[in-house]
Amino acid sequence: MTRTLAHAEWIERAEHAPALESLAPLPPTRRALLADPSEFDVAYAINPHMRVADGSLKRVDRERAREQWLALASALRECGLHTHVVPALPGCPDLVFCANQALPVPPEASALGRSLALASNMRWPQRRREVPQVLATLRELGYAPRRLATLAPLEGMGDGLWHPGRALVWAGVGPRSSPRAWSAVAPWLRAPLVALELIDPDFYHLDTALALLDERTCLWLPDALSRSSRRLVEALIPRRIEADPGEARERLACNACCPDGRTVLIQRGCAVTNGRLRAAGYEVRELDTDEFLKSGGSVFCMKLLVW
Ligand code: ARG
Repeated sequence: MTRTLAHAEWIERAEHAPALESLAPLPPTRRALLADPSEFDVAYAINPHMRVADGSLKRVDRERAREQWLALASALRECGLHTHVVPALPGCPDLVFCANQALPVPPEASALGRSLALASNMRWPQRRREVPQVLATLRELGYAPRRLATLAPLEGMGDGLWHPGRALVWAGVGPRSSPRAWSAVAPWLRAPLVALELIDPDFYHLDTALALLDERTCLWLPDALSRSSRRLVEALIPRRIEADPGEARERLACNACCPDGRTVLIQRGCAVTNGRLRAAGYEVRELDTDEFLKSGGSVFCMKLLVW
């Protein structure tokens, strides 16, 4: 299919999907932000993962959480990334999920031709103070902060996933990010936005249902997406590895990441999913993130990859 794309086109239907090869190339990400977990806790419930069956909040072991976070930081460095730490902020237990507070835009895909950090509009007031904290670190890394011309919700790289190696954003629409906010993102981009609708409350961010492993491969849970969204993924991504549904729900298997195109960092114990990843030629590196799973997050959302 050859079609000339308007830069920030909003794509909702498989028949409008561009060919990946027609999109501008993007360099690989070389840096990762992590946020100091000292304040991490489950202090309120804003997603279904944060409560136990009787309705009370899950209990966090902060010491274990720190060990798990340190192991993730080492694993990212071993994959060749430079890590940068966002300082903790008292009263912000979810800051550690630093994929959510901003959408970084590389110069190659930015309407201004320079690196931008588009500030999130966090859906829940409990998380709004985190945004300037993450933007301050991004600014130090050369990203110019910009606010959206709307207060409609948008949660950064929780719902906005850059396609590896190509100027295209997979734009989650669901409990945390709205089409109205995405239309305020579009003017800042020279990249199409592919809208994917989330339909299951357990998969409240796109990064809980889809991981782009490399330019041609994803790990995903099709059932978390609407039927037309599934078709879009099928139209654009030639190799699709399905996560085991139980592992995706209980261990957030799709909240994995593949920083070097070879090694998949994933929560420990996703045996079925990991078998499929290995069969596809990936090296699987299992990490313990179970303290963070209690809050509804794992490997992918505990870091923000930037160029
Ligand atoms: N407790 C956090 C929240 O509900 C977890 C965020 C995890 N982030 C993610 N992208 N999945 O907002």
